[in-house]
Amino acid sequence: MQNRDHHLLTLKDWSRERIQETIDLALQLKSDLKTKGPSDRLRGQTIGMFFEKPSLRTVTTFQVGIHQLGGEAIMLDPESIGLGKRESIADVSRCLSRWVNAIVVRCFKQELLEKLAEYGSVPVINALTDEFHPCQALAFGQTMVEHFGALRGRTVAFIGDGNNVANSLMILAAKTGMNFTLACPKGFEQPADLVEYASPIFAQNGGSYRVFNDPKEAVRDADILYSDVWVSMGQEEQKDSKQSHFLPFQINDSLLALAPQGCMVTHCLPAHRGEEITDAIMDSPRNLCFEEAENRLHAQKAVMCQLMQATLPR
Ligand code: CP
Ligand code: NVA
Repeated sequence: MQNRDHHLLTLKDWSRERIQETIDLALQLKSDLKTKGPSDRLRGQTIGMFFEKPSLRTVTTFQVGIHQLGGEAIMLDPESIGLGKRESIADVSRCLSRWVNAIVVRCFKQELLEKLAEYGSVPVINALTDEFHPCQALAFGQTMVEHFGALRGRTVAFIGDGNNVANSLMILAAKTGMNFTLACPKGFEQPADLVEYASPIFAQNGGSYRVFNDPKEAVRDADILYSDVWVSMGQEEQKDSKQSHFLPFQINDSLLALAPQGCMVTHCLPAHRGEEITDAIMDSPRNLCFEEAENRLHAQKAVMCQLMQATLPR
């Protein structure tokens, strides 16, 4: 396998500098698109897109982004490929590496993504797994820089399940000197090994990590509240058992009223209005989720430029 930072498997593999450079490049690409139009940074490159789970934002922004960079996206059909069933993951990856210049993957198990990276020779980009969603975290970072000017010293309070999005936001926060607060019901915390990994990184970079089981405690010093669905893709059978635990973890007007003035809200989307977030907050000018959704496009273009221009002849 190439060095792990030739891929985007998890932000754990990316240095603080690489994260900051990617956010800076995303801001630059966003501004270039408005002033100069599409570019040819990925001219002649083909990117394979393998999605085992549904998607609106990720699949669209990768396809549009690749088009805007002069490359071509092709959709790979999981049903037809039968990864690990019709053919081994290793052989599929070896073949794909002979034809495409990068692979964007949304799948259940992180191990599948890791194996594709291990046996192939082209960059593999995590478009969401059960454990991580690094592209979402980078788009969040870009949105924070646009709104607050910087990441260091800012506090994000994630209200809900200690899930894939929370995990990637936590790593981004640890590496960039932010404070990360999780408010979740008991038993829905982030994995202990990930917290153990991140704790010294928070300390090194001047940030902090806290967990509360009361959302009211968590929002008191927040610059931004982060929301996500209570039941992630693939956990549908847990819906009924989870729902009752999470009812107090809704972002609504009364919770936001306890946060400092100027505290913003965001959501990775799709939102379940009336569950983890109310209509009023979704439609409020304090909600940056649609800016963040737009920034998925720019952040992922920056990721592809970082990974592909470094490894491919132009
Ligand atoms: N936030 C996000 O990844 O959206 P999709 O699931 O629609 O891609
Ligand atoms: N935690 C959610 C994020 C969706 C973008 C899920 O995995 O379904």
